[in-house]
Amino acid sequence: MKITFTDAAKADIIGFLVDQGGKLPKAAEALDQESGGLLSEALKSGRFEGKEGQQAFVVLPKGSAAKRALLVGGGKAKGRNERALERIGAVVYKSQANSGFKSLAMTVGGADDAARIALGAKLAAYRFDDYRTKLKDEDKPSLTSISFVSEDAKAARAAFKPLDAGADGTYLARDLVNMPPNDLYPGSYAEKIETLAEHGLEIEILGEKELAKLGMNSMLGVGQGSVKESKLGIMKWMGGKAGDAPVALVGKGVCFDTGGISLKPGAGMEDMRGDMGGSAAVVGAMLALAKRKAKANVVGLVGLVENMPDGDAIRPGDILRSASGQTIEVQNTDAEGRLVLCDVLWYTQEKYKPAAIVDLATLTGAIVIGLGHHHAGMFTNNDKLADQLTAAGLAEGERVWRMPLGPEYDKQLKSKFADMRNIGGRAAGSITAAQFLQRFIQDGQTWAHLDIAGVAWVEGEKAPTDPSWASGFGPRLLDRWIADNYES
Ligand code: BES
Ligand code: MN
Ligand code: ZN
Repeated sequence: MKITFTDAAKADIIGFLVDQGGKLPKAAEALDQESGGLLSEALKSGRFEGKEGQQAFVVLPKGSAAKRALLVGGGKAKGRNERALERIGAVVYKSQANSGFKSLAMTVGGADDAARIALGAKLAAYRFDDYRTKLKDEDKPSLTSISFVSEDAKAARAAFKPLDAGADGTYLARDLVNMPPNDLYPGSYAEKIETLAEHGLEIEILGEKELAKLGMNSMLGVGQGSVKESKLGIMKWMGGKAGDAPVALVGKGVCFDTGGISLKPGAGMEDMRGDMGGSAAVVGAMLALAKRKAKANVVGLVGLVENMPDGDAIRPGDILRSASGQTIEVQNTDAEGRLVLCDVLWYTQEKYKPAAIVDLATLTGAIVIGLGHHHAGMFTNNDKLADQLTAAGLAEGERVWRMPLGPEYDKQLKSKFADMRNIGGRAAGSITAAQFLQRFIQDGQTWAHLDIAGVAWVEGEKAPTDPSWASGFGPRLLDRWIADNYES
């Protein structure tokens, strides 16, 4: 989908945003007259009131400037926030995507609104068709370009640039989460990450030999039942001041989670292709930062493994010696995400002394029960960071909800044999998972953990800006958080 910004509409379809209960916009007047009042008639007839998302479609007479006109309800102008603008863009795209027409020019108001509407259209235009060989032409979108006509095209273009970078991050995260686990495994994933060097990211990939040298036996334990080699992917974007401590983003990249010897039930197991959603958020965020040339130092680290049952797999009862030196009794091999993250978190702190760490993981089913599909769970040792992430999430529509931490929960991790066990019993499963991670956070280290198990993919009814199974949650939240707090 090509998105452009102009100040003159020229396309197969010309669209106009109409406020609820409002008049035809000025920009539509010429076309209205030319067509003998067809647009104002459309505004009055039928049930079109300009409610958000409503549409009226007008076939224009021969010789008109365009083939069709489209009136799109914008709802009440007052209180039309970013989400509403994104939804409007998504509805515009969706309504004409399969219309048979190729180009649409949409007249909107100011530059910032135009940019947000464009973002909504782009997010809605995402598709994951690589694995379909029998797609009929009529099922492929015909619409290939939308231009947005606003008061100041140049300003709109400038406003869209960072949003576009964020959307590219979302697209990448969606692709990674949607990809099947036979094609996206640690090695192939690492190769994909390596290609991001073309955007100016510095990439480093560590294999099992190097991870063993670093003592990352907890992460290696998870991958040990898989024939695929575990990898640690490291991406660096050093766009800030030299010497400034970087922000670190850490992601769980379990390319497939069978549960291991503590095997998951069969029904729905295919969803565990998405168990690398945390890592996808990090990779997508790194791409967004590079694309908009963020003025901040950021490192992204993703632990890439596959959790398989095998003669070589870790067993319940095994004790793993983590990179931090702490020992972990594995009581359930399905609580593997924390075993990966604890070593990556430790390495991140030792190596980069980050100003703050945010980790993301599809860590627990319990967070889906607790918060459903509309907020990620946030656990943090820092109130300021909590406020920052909450604000960034609200601003970009990737919301987080703070959950508690506390020593009472931590006690649930006591082990008979080792420093801790990897599960905390039935109660407060998402909190004990976060407590486990916190045991690997060094004193004074600012840290937040986002449990995105409920938001990385969603089945059923969703926002029009979220068209595929994978939502691509994370990149825009992280990008916004960095933009608002680490770039002056
Ligand atoms: N990847 C899962 C968590 C998950 C569940 C993500 C559903 C998305 C949807 C994780 O590795 C896991 O299996 N967690 C266990 C932990 C338990 C064994 C303590 C869980 O949530 O059941
Ligand atoms: Mn698991
Ligand atoms: Zn998992």
